[in-house]
Order: sequence, then structure tokens, then C-alpha cells
Amino acid sequence: MPCAPTAFLPVKRPRIAIIVAIGPERVIGQGNQLPWKLPRDMKFFRRATLGHTIVMGRKTFESLGCKALPRRRNIVITRNPLAQWKGVDVAHSLDEAIRLAGDEKRIFVIGGGEIYRAALPIADDVYITEIGDQNPNFNLFKAFPGDTFFPALNAEHWRLDRPPKRKNIASDRVPPIRPPKLKRAGLYFQIFRYKRRRSVAGNKPS
Ligand SMILES: NC(=O)c1ccc[n+]([C@@H]2O[C@H](COP(=O)([O-])OP(=O)(O)OC[C@H]3O[C@@H](n4cnc5c(N)ncnc54)[C@H](OP(=O)(O)O)[C@@H]3O)[C@@H](O)[C@H]2O)c1
Repeated sequence: MPCAPTAFLPVKRPRIAIIVAIGPERVIGQGNQLPWKLPRDMKFFRRATLGHTIVMGRKTFESLGCKALPRRRNIVITRNPLAQWKGVDVAHSLDEAIRLAGDEKRIFVIGGGEIYRAALPIADDVYITEIGDQNPNFNLFKAFPGDTFFPALNAEHWRLDRPPKRKNIASDRVPPIRPPKLKRAGLYFQIFRYKRRRSVAGNKPS
């Protein structure tokens, strides 16, 4: 006898936006922390997500000191059926997190690596802050080593929404980036916004 599903993803679901900061080799994390502190990108992240629902993996939540980010609905994804934390809603899968968001217009998936990998095939928008260095011979990965990475975007599925503006990190006001040894003249960041390409039939490719 066929097994009747107990739940379906809502037909009308929120727009799913991924927001991420990546370094060389698409590194995003090291030792369950960001490899850098970039205050201007933090400001961008705050502005973009304020007032919205944010969805994150349990490890990213731990990296935030197990505290909800204020003025946003926080949903934390874990496989632990008993987990509860103050100030956050708990989901046991990405689908459940999306269902919890209900009829909201847009949600932000804020990491980390495992949750980004799960969300990318169904995301509508991707905001990527990319940290780079103008000197192609400088080994930026040595400066920002990491153990967690963001998946590569497939150009067939994503189009650049608007050209990024490159911002020089060294010209930032104090403290531009930590660790301070990385206050290099050639260091920059730029924010890319990608939108998913729709197929002719209007279906989404995975
Ligand atoms: N650069 C950036 O923009 C950025 C943004 C966010 C995070 N990060 C970095 O990313 C790193 C953390 O990423 P991560 O990949 O290690 O961990 P993560 O994605 O934050 O969380 C992984 C956890 O989420 C839960 N989970 C994942 N898939 C699930 C599923 N299908 N169903 C139910 N629960 C699921 C599991 O929690 P349980 O083990 O509790 O079951 C899993 O251990 C840190 O270094 C952090 O600083 C970087």
C-alpha cells in the first residue's frame, strides 16, 4: 500500500535567499568561526536580514554563542529531536524550517556549510560577499585558512543580478578586518547578487 506523506512543502513558499561571505577557495569557516571579521560586511548582513526570518544550522547557531540574532525570527536546524533554545524556533530539516516560515515573503539562509549545501538547489537568490586580493601572487588562503566551504555556483542556473562594486578593505575605518596582519593594501571585498535563472517552462532546475 502506498505510504501517504504526512506533510508537503507549501505550494506557495517564501523566496529563499542565501547570504554568505566567502574567501579564497570559497572558504567560509574555520574552527566553527568566520575566518575574518569584516565590520562593513556585518553591516550589510544586518541591513539585509533585519525584520526577516533567518535559518541556520545548529553549528552556526553555536558559533553565535547560542544567542538569537535580534529583531529577526531565528530558526535553527538540528537532527536532535529534544533540542530547544531560548529565543529561537527549532526545525529538524530545511523543509520544516521553510514550513515554519509560513506565508512570509522571503527568508534568509545564513549558513553554515551543511545548510548552504542543502539550500542551494532550492534557493532563489544568493548574496555573496567575496573577499579577495588584487595581487594574484599573494596566497590569500594561507592568510585565511579554513575547514568549511561554500559550494560552487553553476553558471547555467545563476545569473548576476547587478555588477558588484569592489571596496578596498585597507581604506575601511578602524578596525577594517581582523586579524590585523591582513590589513593589506590589495585586500578588497565585493558583494555579488545572483538570481536563479528560470527555465523556459518556468520550472526551476535543481
Ligand atoms: N562565511 C559565512 O558567511 C558563514 C555563515 C555562516 C556560518 N559560517 C561558518 O560555517 C561553519 C559552520 O558550518 P557547518 O557546515 O559546520 O555547520 P552548520 O551548517 O552551521 O550546521 C550543521 C548542523 O546543522 C544540522 N543539520 C544539518 N543538516 C541537517 C538536516 N538535513 N536535518 C536536520 N539537521 C541538520 C545538524 O545539527 P545537529 O548536529 O545538532 O543535528 C548539523 O550538525 C562555521 O565555521 C561558521 O562560522 C560562515
